[in-house]
Amino acid sequence: MEALEAILTRRSTRRYKKEIPDKELINKVIEAGRYAPSGSNSQTTHFIVFTDEAVLAEMADLVCGEFAKMEIKEDTYISLKNSINAARKGGYVFHYGAPVYIVTANKKGYGNAMADSACALENMMIAANALDLGSCWINQLHWLDKNEEIRKFMYRYGLNEDETITGGLIIGYPESGEPVREPLERKGNPVTWAN
Ligand SMILES: Cc1cc2nc3c(=O)[nH]c(=O)nc-3n(C[C@H](O)[C@H](O)[C@H](O)COP(=O)(O)O)c2cc1C
Repeated sequence: MEALEAILTRRSTRRYKKEIPDKELINKVIEAGRYAPSGSNSQTTHFIVFTDEAVLAEMADLVCGEFAKMEIKEDTYISLKNSINAARKGGYVFHYGAPVYIVTANKKGYGNAMADSACALENMMIAANALDLGSCWINQLHWLDKNEEIRKFMYRYGLNEDETITGGLIIGYPESGEPVREPLERKGNPVTWAN
């Protein structure tokens, strides 16, 4: 698939087959992330790759439990509020049961931590689309970055103490056979030509 087509047809896919794509294919997606630009070429984005179904299920249970304990305030961000409400009902699987979840982390206190990780995540989403894999940015672990139980869990799987969780991406074979690709109408993202 040509690069611009891969960018313009990328959408979020949230329903997956259980089958784990070959490691080689997963690695192609990760390499696209690793080749993203970074501020001052710092290359500090850390990719923590989960493919074990039992570990992913344990993670979903833990996240559900921690969200259920959270308070909803007047200024709670809408998506976070939705996650808390879903968790309170029980059985909330924030990663949609996808077979692969790539969590991104970066150095605490590094000013470009989020920007670098976002570049990496977008590169991975475009690569996944070009490879006929579905993908979706999954942000719950970022919101729970300061949660002690979540950090303890993540330390078991490679998060370093000097790192902050910046985001994450699920990938896999789409349930329908093809990634979601229908374009979403652009109502926002205004462009101003200043000259
Ligand atoms: C920073 C960021 C965080 C997101 N977090 C989530 C998430 O936690 N769960 C989810 O299902 N989708 C998440 N998304 C996906 C957006 O909902 C999606 O990109 C948006 O609705 C536009 O749809 P599209 O990706 O199909 O074009 C996130 C996207 C971004 C850029």
